[in-house]
Amino acid sequence: MSRRLRRWILLAPVVFVVLATLGAIAAHHDAQKGPDAQPLPGLGLGRLAAARGILLGTALDDGALQHEPGYRHVLGTEFDAITPENAMKWDAVEPKQGELHWDAADRAVDFAGRHRLKVRGHTLVWYSQLPGWLADGGFKAPALRRLMTDHITTEMRRYRGRVRTWDVVNEAMADGGGLRPGLWLDTLGPSYIAEAFAAARKADPDARLALNEIGADGSGPKADTLLKVVRELKRRGLIDEVGFQAHFNLNGVPPSMAQNLRRFSDLGVDVAITEADVSVKDPGTPEQLKVQAEVYGDLVRVCRSVPRCRALTVWGFTDRHSWIPSSSPGYGSATLLDDELKPKPAYAAFQAALRAP
Ligand code: G3I
Repeated sequence: MSRRLRRWILLAPVVFVVLATLGAIAAHHDAQKGPDAQPLPGLGLGRLAAARGILLGTALDDGALQHEPGYRHVLGTEFDAITPENAMKWDAVEPKQGELHWDAADRAVDFAGRHRLKVRGHTLVWYSQLPGWLADGGFKAPALRRLMTDHITTEMRRYRGRVRTWDVVNEAMADGGGLRPGLWLDTLGPSYIAEAFAAARKADPDARLALNEIGADGSGPKADTLLKVVRELKRRGLIDEVGFQAHFNLNGVPPSMAQNLRRFSDLGVDVAITEADVSVKDPGTPEQLKVQAEVYGDLVRVCRSVPRCRALTVWGFTDRHSWIPSSSPGYGSATLLDDELKPKPAYAAFQAALRAP
């Protein structure tokens, strides 16, 4: 055996120990307790959810991830999965045609890797948050189809093996039933959905592929159309999961939600709650926050009552970074923790609903 080989064999364990130590320091640094990180009561929500067979996730705000140690601390201790809130959307990754920006998405996926969090890729084909060059490009069907499949392939290949589930197509159903009109349907026709899923299946055969929908949580024309589309995708072996966003207010969880989700799992796909929040009219009185807590508890009970509801993601975990105030002025307080990362009644209700026998 050469001297060089012998030296490598002797050095290898030392190199391993050094790398392992550096990794542990980096992970600790990430999750360090910032000035406003309060230890939350009881077991982390993620561990309670895992005991019920539910992967608990949260939308991830890139700015907070970069600049708020307290936010990172809660992320690392309370959740087992993340969905980049905006970083993987087309307008974020390709603001100019051919100019790819991956920094924010890489930050999310790298953080998840360091903290053993699963990643939900969100979202590849959507009518919103498209870059201007695409939305207003006037592309004809062949060119647009190519742009869509190339985008899916490029993004999925970059994160191959590091994204557990992809929201391949988002919000494709129209509120009154039928498919939502827009760039994709108007130019490519109804087949764009299956074409997107087929491209995704090819790009990463090991990834779970999901169709994600807003406002289809309870039965109704939108959920009925969704069921038809999912049945066909399942027949072609192109789909693994249906995401129900669950953006609620104090009107609560639709009474038909559990039965509706079971209609989908009966097709042989998993179901997931993917963007749960419960918006409250400002200023969010104690009585309102009590009702909000019941809604969050009901949502957990719905997921637990549907055997193939395997994942529940809240759309942000602190009011400090919720999308609600900017999108619905006069409303807010939509998440489990307040602006100071302190648990609200919703946190306790969520925890209790996970703990209940
Ligand atoms: O990136 C720009 C930044 O350059 C600019 O300075 C800033 C001020 O105008 O805007 C930034 O873009 C914002 C973007 O979030 C990234 O922060 C957009 O204005 C803002 O409209 C956008 O809001 C996002 C919204 O989707 C867009 O529809 C929310 O954060 C996000 O939570 C929300 O999430 C969606 C899901 O993806 C799909 N389901 C519905 C859900 C709520 O709409």
